[in-house]
Amino acid sequence: MLVKGSLLIKISGVVLLAWFLEIILFVIWGSNVKDSWSHSLQFIFLSVFIAGGVLFYIYIIIKPMKRLLYASKAAASGDLSQRIPIFSGNELGEVGISFNGMAQQLETAMDVLNKRSTELESLKVFLDSIIDNLPFNIYVIDRDLTVIAWNKKREDGPFGINRNFAIGKKLWHILDMNLFKASSPKGRAEMEKEFAEVFNSGKIIEREEVSTSFGGKSFFKIIKVPLMIKEDGAQYVLTAIEDITIRRQLEIQLMAKNRLAAIGELAAGVAHEINNPMASMAVCVESLLRSTAQASFKRDEDSAKFNKYLKIIEREIYRCKDITTGLLNFSRDKTFVIRDVTVKDTLFETIKLLQLQEKYRSFKISTDIKDNLPSVSADEGQLRQVFLAIMINAFEAMASESGALDISATDGMDGNTRVVRIAFKDNGCGIPKENLSKIFTTFFTTKGNMRTGLGLSICYGIVTQHGGRIEVESKVGSGSIFTVILPHNGMQNKPLNQ
Ligand SMILES: Nc1ncnc2c1ncn2[C@@H]1O[C@H](COP(=O)(O)OP(=O)(O)OP(=O)(O)O)[C@@H](O)[C@H]1O
Ligand SMILES: [Mg+2]
Repeated sequence: MLVKGSLLIKISGVVLLAWFLEIILFVIWGSNVKDSWSHSLQFIFLSVFIAGGVLFYIYIIIKPMKRLLYASKAAASGDLSQRIPIFSGNELGEVGISFNGMAQQLETAMDVLNKRSTELESLKVFLDSIIDNLPFNIYVIDRDLTVIAWNKKREDGPFGINRNFAIGKKLWHILDMNLFKASSPKGRAEMEKEFAEVFNSGKIIEREEVSTSFGGKSFFKIIKVPLMIKEDGAQYVLTAIEDITIRRQLEIQLMAKNRLAAIGELAAGVAHEINNPMASMAVCVESLLRSTAQASFKRDEDSAKFNKYLKIIEREIYRCKDITTGLLNFSRDKTFVIRDVTVKDTLFETIKLLQLQEKYRSFKISTDIKDNLPSVSADEGQLRQVFLAIMINAFEAMASESGALDISATDGMDGNTRVVRIAFKDNGCGIPKENLSKIFTTFFTTKGNMRTGLGLSICYGIVTQHGGRIEVESKVGSGSIFTVILPHNGMQNKPLNQ
C-alpha cells in the first residue's frame, strides 16, 4: 500500500510538472489556453509522455540502482543472501546478473569457509584436550625462548604455573619461579645449551634427570622436540617432562628382588650341602661330650679344656645350623596357604608369643588398631614371621627400661589399591642414613658376627610376595618406624611362590 501510495504521489507530481510546463509554454507562445482545446490536448499528451519517461527512468534505472546499492552494502557487511531482481536485459540487468552470480559464489565459499573453520575449531579443541590430558608436563617455546604453549598438567602440583600467566613470558622468568635446576647459573647454562642444540640441529634430545627438590628422589624423563624445521633450524621447541619415579622405583625393587632370588637359589644349594655334614659333626660332638664326662685325663685342666672346646664347637655348629635354616627359609619354594587373615588377631598372637620370653617382657607395648579393619589375603604364618622379626629388631634397638613400642594398624588407599598399613614405632637407637638402603640386604647386620642379618631380607621377600611393601622412617637417637603395607585382597587364590 505504501509503495502504491508513493507511486500515486510520483504520478501526480509528474502531471503537475506537465501543467507547469503548459503554463510556461503558454506564457512563451502568448496564446489563451482556456480557449485553445488543441493546445490543451497537446499539453495533456506532453504531460503523459513526460510522466511515462520519468516512470520509465524510475523503474528501469533508479530502482535497480537502489536495489544494487542496498545489496552491495548488505554484502559488504556480511549478508550475502541478498539478490537483485532482474527486469531488463540492459547493462543494469547484466550488472545485476553478475552481482547475483558473485554473491552466490561468495555465499557458497563462505559456507565452505565457515564449515572448515568449525572443523578447525573442533580439531583444535580435540588436540588441546590430547595435549592437556597427556601425563606429561608440556610447554613450547619459540626462538626468543618465549613460552607460546603450556599444557594443563604443567599447571598441577606444588610447582605448577598457571597457563595464562606463563604464555607470552620469557622461559627463564617462569622457571626462575620454581625450577631447581634453571635457578642456578650452571643449570641455566646447561639448559640454554640444550635448547640451542635442538633449535640448531633440529634433532630430538632425550635424557633423564634425578631431582631431590620434591623431598626424596624423583626421576624425570625429559624430551625436547624441534618443531617446524626450516633451513636455519627449528622455529619452536616442545619440551615434555614425564615423572618416571614410580617406574624407576619398581625397576630398582625388581632388581633387588632378582638379586635376592639369585642369592636365595645359591644360598639354598649351599645351605643344603652344608646341613648334612653339620648334622654329622653335631652328633660327633655330642657323643664326644658324653665320653669326656666319663673319661679320665692325665690332668684335670685337660679335661676342663677338652670340655670347653667341645662346647664351643657344638655352639658354633648350631650357629651354622641357624644360618643354614635361615637361608633355606629365605629361599625355599613353598606353597603357602592363603586365606583371609585378620591382622588384629595375628598381631596380638605375635605379641603374646614374644612376651613368653623373659627378655622382652620389660618393654612397653601399646596398640592402636582400627575397628573393622579389612582382612588381608595372606599366609598367616608368614605374616607372623614378618611381625616377629620387626618387633624383635625394635626390642633390640631399645633400652629395656625405657623402651616403648607403638603398634598401629589402619586401612586406606595406596593408589587404586585398598591396603592395610601396620606401623611399628620404637624409641630405639634409630638407623643411620647410610644404613637405610642396606638393612633389607641379605647378611647385613650391625649386631656382630653372631647374627645372620637375614631377618629383614626375609620380611622383604614375604611382604613383596604378598604384593605389599615395607617403608622405613628413622632418626638416629629418636627411633624408627617400620610400616608394612599389605593389599587387602592382593593374594586371593594366588600361590605365593610365583
Ligand atoms: N628397629 C630398628 N632400630 C634400629 N636398627 C634396626 C631396626 N631394625 C633393623 N635395624 C638394623 O637393620 C639391621 C638388619 O636387620 P635384620 O633384622 O635384617 O638383621 P639382624 O637383626 O641384624 O639379624 P637377624 O638376622 O638375627 O635378624 C640390623 O642389624 C640393625 O642395624
Ligand atoms: Mg633382626
